[in-house]
Amino acid sequence: MTEDFIEFKKYYREAVKSVPDDSFFKESINHKYRHSVEVLRAGELIMQETDELKNLSEDFKKYAQKALLFHDVGRFEEAVLRYNTPHLEANSEVLNRYDHGLIGYNTMRQNPLYNDIRILLAIRYHGKMMDEVKKSALWAEAEQSPQADAAKKILYLVRDADKLANLAKIKSDDHLRKDIFYKLLPDEAKYAGLSETVMRQFFAEQTILSATVYSFADRILQVISWIFDLNYRKTKEIFTQEKYGTYLLNLMPEYNVSADEIKQISEFTDKKSGGK
Ligand SMILES: [Fe+2]
Repeated sequence: MTEDFIEFKKYYREAVKSVPDDSFFKESINHKYRHSVEVLRAGELIMQETDELKNLSEDFKKYAQKALLFHDVGRFEEAVLRYNTPHLEANSEVLNRYDHGLIGYNTMRQNPLYNDIRILLAIRYHGKMMDEVKKSALWAEAEQSPQADAAKKILYLVRDADKLANLAKIKSDDHLRKDIFYKLLPDEAKYAGLSETVMRQFFAEQTILSATVYSFADRILQVISWIFDLNYRKTKEIFTQEKYGTYLLNLMPEYNVSADEIKQISEFTDKKSGGK
């Protein structure tokens, strides 16, 4: 792992030196560095506690660790690109303009130490809807590879660990209200309550599509809907133990969600995540 950290820091330093000190971009690069280490730790914990993973080879573990640490490497370059195109920062479209998974995939594909389907599949697709992932050429390529099983297990592991690290940050740091989505959201949308399409997706047990998120209540429900996209038992256990659902529901009254809606969501969440 030491070598991986050395390598990872090269990408980090390259980005940091391309943006000004004390800028939003530098802060976001530093945040992503810390987040990557947190995702590595969360992933290691899931691996240790999951029967189908803990008895796999050292080789599997090695590739899983690399994928966990590097999953967001594209965020470094994304921050530099955004810094260099300030005119795009003025609207919320910027959130969708760059695909950090694709950026990271293209970067790591060129690095012989990391050009491996077990790492690349997770980097490219850790943040995308699984329906989309399964239709992709890279998924088909993974399926043809002798490493198909490991590549899929690692993708699911990175997806779970990423969510756990984000949930921990959201709860400990009120992070949902510090991110760029919240800051760019006009007040009329911020307090608009839950949208119908978002509720429909939630009660159909779907992870809520970012394109359909309009209000801040929608955004909160989107995070709760991550429970429909958790793959390993340990991840679900941590979600319940840490009471992330309760924490998120408690934010809702301030954003025009009725007590009745909260009750419905809460009951559904308890049922789906295996009780309080
Ligand atoms: Fe991440």
